[in-house]
Amino acid sequence: PATSLQDIVAHAKEYGFVFPSSEIYDGLQAVYDYGQNGVELKNNLKNIWWKAMTQLNDNRSGGPIVGIDAAIFMHPLTWKASGHVDGFNDPMIDNKDSKKRYRADQLLEGKAEQYAADGQPEKAQALLNEMGRLLGDNDLEAVRELIIAEGIKCPISGTTNWTEVRQFNLMFSTQVGSVAEDSNLIYLRPETAQGIFVNFLNVQKSGRMKIPFGIAQIGKAFRNEIVARQFTFRMREFEQMEMQFFVRPGTEMEWYEKWRDTRLKFHQAVGLPAEKLKFHIHEKLAHYANAAVDIEYQFPFGFREIEGIHSRTDFDLKNHQELSKKKQQYFDNDLDENGKPFGNYIPYVVETSVGADRLFLAVFCNAFTKETVGEGDAQKERTVLKLHPALAPFKAAIFPLVKKDGLPEKAEEIVKALRGEFRVFYEERDAIGKRYTRQDLIGTPFCIAVDYQTLEDDTVTIRHRDSMEQERVHISELKAKIGYAVSE
Ligand code: GAP
Repeated sequence: PATSLQDIVAHAKEYGFVFPSSEIYDGLQAVYDYGQNGVELKNNLKNIWWKAMTQLNDNRSGGPIVGIDAAIFMHPLTWKASGHVDGFNDPMIDNKDSKKRYRADQLLEGKAEQYAADGQPEKAQALLNEMGRLLGDNDLEAVRELIIAEGIKCPISGTTNWTEVRQFNLMFSTQVGSVAEDSNLIYLRPETAQGIFVNFLNVQKSGRMKIPFGIAQIGKAFRNEIVARQFTFRMREFEQMEMQFFVRPGTEMEWYEKWRDTRLKFHQAVGLPAEKLKFHIHEKLAHYANAAVDIEYQFPFGFREIEGIHSRTDFDLKNHQELSKKKQQYFDNDLDENGKPFGNYIPYVVETSVGADRLFLAVFCNAFTKETVGEGDAQKERTVLKLHPALAPFKAAIFPLVKKDGLPEKAEEIVKALRGEFRVFYEERDAIGKRYTRQDLIGTPFCIAVDYQTLEDDTVTIRHRDSMEQERVHISELKAKIGYAVSE
């Protein structure tokens, strides 16, 4: 049977991966906490991304990438320059009877999906086109009329009693200092990218970087999403892993294509199957982009964006130059075809931007498996998280078969030998079958059983999570075996 999002949410909570935020107070909508296993999985994902960016693209590569960690608070003019103050809006509409708030575009998209499901794809497309046109013109009154003309009802009250459509800025604001004046208003960053743009010259100069090069960053971002649904897919506080790659104008499409392909391979390398990933090319481009593509993953609720790759031109640096009155230029002393230096220019930027929480959710959904194992009378259902070993919270669990005769001590020796390199778990309670089951539920790839034979010849049984097969190996082989699986 297909896994539902409810199964995923329940498993994530029961086994310490994701909890609703402040749950004892009934939670806070669209905010989540990562538990003892979730934080490990998420950190593993972040570390792999960081390594793929900053370690594999070293200064001997054709485009080195270095990291930064900028502050969440930024000068308010940053968000003027980036276009977020004026343009980072969602059209919202309220139902007067239920007092519930909806995103106008999502109501219309829902209607279009209905048309498509009823075998009327042309009608669906026409509605989406009309919506795109009206929102593009910011004709909000016409958007409301369209919602009414389509007979779209509030799912709660069942009525079509809608308010006007209003643009709602998604940035959270707060005040610096104690005086509540406008000038003290600052925002929680809605994307990490701007921390990179404003530090472009700092990094370029202090690191003596030559274009092309990239700057990578992992950090929190905040958006006051009107409709928060689908678990950690759309959160109000989330984490982004972004990389801005600075290139010579005119070369951006080459780099855009390179990064698009590189990023798809990354998602496959962390275990997402090729058939569950696809590109979605943007036909309608944001004001700052000259090309944009999303990488989508097939979640239980359909194909949805996990990462965006955008060719952002010089939009951001140019606007920062204008508002800050500080030149954002780079001097390129490479020679053009006429043997002259390329000289001064504002670099173009190709950006890769992936949500850590969305990638976590994709990996978690993909790993979550319910299957029937065994044969005849021994047949049973099991739930197992088939995570790539590099992502698993624990790489191995070590079990003495019984709690006596020196077996715990022998097992303890193995723990000590492994824990410097891998996160491992020791357990001596309950029957060994139960212990295997508990590790399957959190995705531990290897269980190592210590028995009486171990005391004689230093061999142990390794039980593999996915195949459930067991093999006998010498203790001295364990490090290499686990290490190989993790790095593969
Ligand atoms: N700097 C470009 C940028 O921020 P975006 O498409 O708005 O582009 C990039 O966001 C990625 O951030 C998305 O692909 C998604 O993975 C993640 N993301 C955006 N909004 C999110 C939210 N509300 N909750 C979780 N992840 C989100």
